[in-house]
Amino acid sequence: MSRQGVALERNLDNIKGFWKHEAREWGDDPRVTIRDHYFRLLETRSITEIIRGRRKVLDIACGSGFSTLYFGEVVDEITGMDYVDDMVTCAQRFLSDTVYFNKVMDRFACNERPKLRGNIRFETADILDMPYAPGSFDAVTTSRALINLPKWELQVKAIDRVAKILKPKGVWALAEVTQQGHEQMDRIRQSFQLPILEKYWHNLYIDEPGFQSAAKKAGLAVRQIQRFETYQFLTKVIHPLIVAPREPKFLDGFNKAALTVSRLHPTYQSVVKMGVDKFFLDIFKSILAIEDPGKLDDYARLVPKILKKNLDFTGCSHQVLFVLSPL
Ligand SMILES: C[S@@+](CC[C@H](N)C(=O)[O-])C[C@H]1O[C@@H](n2cnc3c(N)ncnc32)[C@H](O)[C@@H]1O
Repeated sequence: MSRQGVALERNLDNIKGFWKHEAREWGDDPRVTIRDHYFRLLETRSITEIIRGRRKVLDIACGSGFSTLYFGEVVDEITGMDYVDDMVTCAQRFLSDTVYFNKVMDRFACNERPKLRGNIRFETADILDMPYAPGSFDAVTTSRALINLPKWELQVKAIDRVAKILKPKGVWALAEVTQQGHEQMDRIRQSFQLPILEKYWHNLYIDEPGFQSAAKKAGLAVRQIQRFETYQFLTKVIHPLIVAPREPKFLDGFNKAALTVSRLHPTYQSVVKMGVDKFFLDIFKSILAIEDPGKLDDYARLVPKILKKNLDFTGCSHQVLFVLSPL
């Protein structure tokens, strides 16, 4: 049994059944769709910058709507849609129930509570059968939607569908978990004697070159690729090494410190630019001292050994954010 329940055959019915179950078990907790909550906050901020100022936006597979609320702050109007009714019901509750909104935000917004502006709606729909006219949206966002389609042909179909509903000058912010991202993450973890990351039975991870050529065939170009190397290296390599043999907890202060520092220094190259030693021994350490002081001694013992290893964490991110627009 994995963190994602008993593994079933990866097909459309079982995957939808999985999400219905998750919505019932976790519905009013935003971790229903991603346990690594600080990563969600990092990714959401990146997507917000991509869609800022757009008029009509669609957030496909919005889950229980937590990130959609942040997207709503920076666009004229946004529709969040998901194919699981219970997810959509939770999302709608954010808009109609202030007590619920405040309860979730007190725990999960980390002083970055979204402001509701009356421009968000949620509805039920399937990415493979969307009820939207061609050229309807100035921007589309999807986070880990395609990986829930169990066959490559279905992923290609979804890419075609999104391409059709975008306006000619539209933009698609697509956050996914990729095969190549996982491979690089696993290589780096193994070089530190850590096991590879768990792969979820209900996900078909995106093949990056295949995705790029399918997007091109659908009339879209990949304009930018963002990887979250600093956050993932800190939280999936350094943090596990510090707490071993325990598993790190996603909501630990360590991950919050990683979120804070990754907003300024998101990639390996940005860390190199400011100085790798300075980053680990000075900047991150000082944030850790505030967010998770109990881990400071172990961190201080571990990091000098790691810095001796000719450290390079390029590509250390199973999560990848693609920015696409029509050719
Ligand atoms: C990994 S979650 C991501 C949710 C949300 N984007 C977020 O970041 O929290 C995947 C979501 O996709 C939805 N989903 C999966 N397949 C879908 C489909 N074919 N059409 C619409 N929603 C789908 C699931 O119900 C689930 O809420």
